[in-house]
Amino acid sequence: MNATLQLMQQHRSIRSYQERPIPADVLDAVLDSAWKGPTSINGQQVSLVVVQDAERRRQIAEIAGGQAWIAQAPVFITLVADFYKTRLGVAKAGAEQVIHHSLEAFAVGAVDVGIALGNLMTAARAAGLGIVPIGGIRRDPQAMIKLLQLPKLTFPLAGVVMGYVQDDSELKPRMPRASFVHKETYQAAALPAHIEAYDQILQQHWQDIKRPDGKPWSANTAEYYQRIYFPQVAPVARQQGFGFDK
Ligand SMILES: Cc1cc2nc3c(=O)[nH]c(=O)nc-3n(C[C@H](O)[C@H](O)[C@H](O)COP(=O)(O)O)c2cc1C
Repeated sequence: MNATLQLMQQHRSIRSYQERPIPADVLDAVLDSAWKGPTSINGQQVSLVVVQDAERRRQIAEIAGGQAWIAQAPVFITLVADFYKTRLGVAKAGAEQVIHHSLEAFAVGAVDVGIALGNLMTAARAAGLGIVPIGGIRRDPQAMIKLLQLPKLTFPLAGVVMGYVQDDSELKPRMPRASFVHKETYQAAALPAHIEAYDQILQQHWQDIKRPDGKPWSANTAEYYQRIYFPQVAPVARQQGFGFDK
């Protein structure tokens, strides 16, 4: 298997970092790898805000609900869905941007941010760094907007921690591949069996790595999805000028 595929199939999130800074040329090469990625309609509706300042990282760690690794690692990058930038272009062309009144804009922004996040993670790992993606910033998006001075028509969708690994993580097993790769049509009937199998696989994994607090997949997912765990997303998105068609 070639080195890129091997690297991607060895992904794991890192939550323990050295203080060692990332050399500027290494960080720039990682950022360029996301910058060169594709975007919907070439709209380039993604901006990255790179935070290295220790006090600002500490505040982001708090906003994200007390995630120590954000303060510990030298770099935190916020990925912003950016329809402020596109509106400038639309206005320059003599038109009025309305796409941000539709959920379509959020879908476009989320997909493009996801592509940039994936590119950042792969590039960082190829450069010898560890990463963990962070959705926890959506716990208080208004605080992120204030801290990063984000304009209207932008939204901080996700972040990523980057730095040199202190303690490595174990590879986390995934749900059986057939629950992920569906052939020709969606295979709903087989899912309960895949979920049952994975609950057991994950329980065994937690035992193997001595994490008694680890939960089966179904219980862990229920913990989040039985409630609206980040209720500020929609109201803050609306304040930022986004609409959801009605
Ligand atoms: C969009 C996104 C947001 C995430 N947010 C967080 C987060 O806020 N904090 C955290 O510790 N891990 C976060 N994760 C990491 C997931 O928990 C992790 O990817 C998952 O448990 C699988 O483990 P692995 O990445 O080690 O394979 C996030 C992952 C993604 C893709």
